[in-house]
Amino acid sequence: MNQSIISGLGKYVPENVVTNDDLSKVMDTSNEWIIERTGIETRRHIKKGDGNTTAVMGVKAAKIALERARLTPQDIDLILFATLSPDYYFPGSGVLVQEMLQIPTCPAMDIRNQCSGFVYALATADQFVKTGMYQNVLVIGAENHSGGLDMSTRGRGVSVIFGDGAGAAVVSRYEGSDRGILSSHLHSEGQHAEELSLIGPSTNRWVPEIIAANDPQDTSYYPHMNGQFVFKNAVRRFSEVIIAGLEKNQLTPDQIKLLVPHQANLRISQFVQKKFGLRDDQVYNNIQKYGNTTAASIPIALTEAWEDGLLNEGDVVVLAAFGSGFTWGSTVLKW
Ligand code: UT7
Repeated sequence: MNQSIISGLGKYVPENVVTNDDLSKVMDTSNEWIIERTGIETRRHIKKGDGNTTAVMGVKAAKIALERARLTPQDIDLILFATLSPDYYFPGSGVLVQEMLQIPTCPAMDIRNQCSGFVYALATADQFVKTGMYQNVLVIGAENHSGGLDMSTRGRGVSVIFGDGAGAAVVSRYEGSDRGILSSHLHSEGQHAEELSLIGPSTNRWVPEIIAANDPQDTSYYPHMNGQFVFKNAVRRFSEVIIAGLEKNQLTPDQIKLLVPHQANLRISQFVQKKFGLRDDQVYNNIQKYGNTTAASIPIALTEAWEDGLLNEGDVVVLAAFGSGFTWGSTVLKW
């Protein structure tokens, strides 16, 4: 039987550390407010001229993941790139990874599912591996938020949360049934698309239209989030989709070795932890250091958990995400 295992993990975050005090110099916010409402202490921002782009960071993470999987780029059969902040409007960033890694004509696909992007990408990789079509799939989640945030007081409800970075996983075929991805559970609810969105530039709001309007009050090209509404939906959907994963595999919360939730807000993770009665050592959080890195948050957290020696063969690991779309999902795997 073909199973899909994660054979290598890697992460990259820009060197430039931005503290809450740094932010309070450019907008009306405070270290106390940000820590109390989100748990975030620092995040990383690309610095102009440091050479990083979404794809470049993805490649840096991917190279580490490949080395740890003991594979070369030539062993990769498919690239899946999850991001909401691609290098270009089109084409996607996956093709840039194909070029940078020099994998001749390797197929590349971008996954546009924001905070749930990595879980969606992992589920997609799993299908290609389980059907036998591909042996090794490179899954990347990467984001360059910092350049596109409204760093004035007007944007503080969003801008203090997001950070830049990338994580990568190599998903490989494993012949055996004692390890691998057990199930994925994916959902969407487009009626709430605009509650967490960036409307323009887009085909709804073309760049020439934005320029012609010349309206200083126009914030359509900044991310918009109805924070409290998103928060309420997040805690509900996180819980539901974790329950779905546990039930499908006849598992109970005490059997979870590690829950790696999308790092949206520390308060959301704590709510979920309490709901399932999980101990601190069963939930991995690193939002304190990196903020919310959207599609990159789970692979960055998973990489750090692995580096900390928290993932051993046979451990039950649950990944769960919720975000813009709304989209949400979970993955249950046996490490
Ligand atoms: O990753 C994708 C999914 N995203 C999420 O799950 C995020 C979900 N939402 C959240 O995490 C929270 O809603 C936020 C962290 C975004 C906001 O926290 P909140 O506790 O919901 O605050 P709020 O939006 O209700 O704002 C409370 C007050 C407001 O002032 P007034 O109206 O009470 O005077 C805001 O203007 O806090 C103010 N505020 C700030 N104050 C200082 C908003 N942002 C800031 C800020 N610094 N950065």
